[in-house]
Amino acid sequence: MSNPSNPSNPSNSSNSSNSSIPTLTLNDGHALPAVGFGTYPLQGDAGYRAVRQALDAGYRLIDSAVNYENEGVVGKAIRDFVTESGVDRDEITVQTKLPGRHHGADRAPASIEESLARLGLERIDMMLIHWPNPITGRYREAWAALVDARERGLVRSVGVSNFTAAHLSDIIADTDVTPAVNQIELHPCFSQSEMRRAHARHGIVTEAWSPLGKREAPFDQESVASAAEVHGVSPAQVILRWHVQLGSVPLPKSATPERQVANLDVFGFALSDDEMAAISALTRPDGRLFDGDPDTHEEM
Ligand SMILES: NC(=O)c1ccc[n+]([C@@H]2O[C@H](COP(=O)([O-])OP(=O)(O)OC[C@H]3O[C@@H](n4cnc5c(N)ncnc54)[C@H](OP(=O)(O)O)[C@@H]3O)[C@@H](O)[C@H]2O)c1
Repeated sequence: MSNPSNPSNPSNSSNSSNSSIPTLTLNDGHALPAVGFGTYPLQGDAGYRAVRQALDAGYRLIDSAVNYENEGVVGKAIRDFVTESGVDRDEITVQTKLPGRHHGADRAPASIEESLARLGLERIDMMLIHWPNPITGRYREAWAALVDARERGLVRSVGVSNFTAAHLSDIIADTDVTPAVNQIELHPCFSQSEMRRAHARHGIVTEAWSPLGKREAPFDQESVASAAEVHGVSPAQVILRWHVQLGSVPLPKSATPERQVANLDVFGFALSDDEMAAISALTRPDGRLFDGDPDTHEEM
């Protein structure tokens, strides 16, 4: 679907015909846009409009989840966009996530089929396990169900979210299938260098949730603000560019059309090594936005 590409060097990257976003190549051979669109907590008519605007702006990776209760509007926005724009459905990656309460082998297969029905699409492009919930301890069953759904053609690529290196080793040992992505909390105040190294060892693409740092976005920090001034861009664009150069795929959420456009416009400038290092230096061991330690946080 695309050539191997390095999004930290846009000139090396492949561009789809209808969108200028570079892509990364996943370990299963499929392409993943280098920046995606987060959809939590977008719902209802306003949610539909935001996702439509994002698609119009050029986003080709849309991140949903059962627990966001918006698969219906995400699917409708994609269907309408494809019909009205003429953009090939295959250029869009719709991603959703299996919730903790559906991990068991008795529930996961039906949950995946229900997601597909709510989306109203012919397949889910990327299905993730939302949280490992290791205390409940059924993520290995959930992974087997995702792999099976891929074999049955319901799902094109399979991945996980919030998995630690130990959780990754468990599911790879069980199935010999390596997740295509692991979506983790990642922003300048929590830069996850260890997990990114683990992903590199396994050939897993890192997706970044709360990539700006949400309410705690470090827009005023000197390293971010001064890079913004030097490059003539906004602090948010600096942070998203930092992700791209790290090799992680940020999934910024914005309900504001101008911000949606700006958040995609991060391929026309490059941060220096010193600027990258100064932004990474904002990371703190306690930099998580909430107590979302995957070893202890359980989300159903
Ligand atoms: N896997 C998981 O466990 C998990 C957990 C959390 C989130 N996620 C995913 O990650 C996505 C993004 O995370 P998030 O929404 O928590 O955090 P975020 O994308 O870092 O921050 C979103 C906030 O930043 C604002 N914003 C966006 N662009 C901006 C810009 N250019 N300048 C200034 N402010 C800007 C948005 O406001 P406006 O909307 O008002 O523009 C919104 O308040 C979610 O939507 C979801 O898809 C996954």
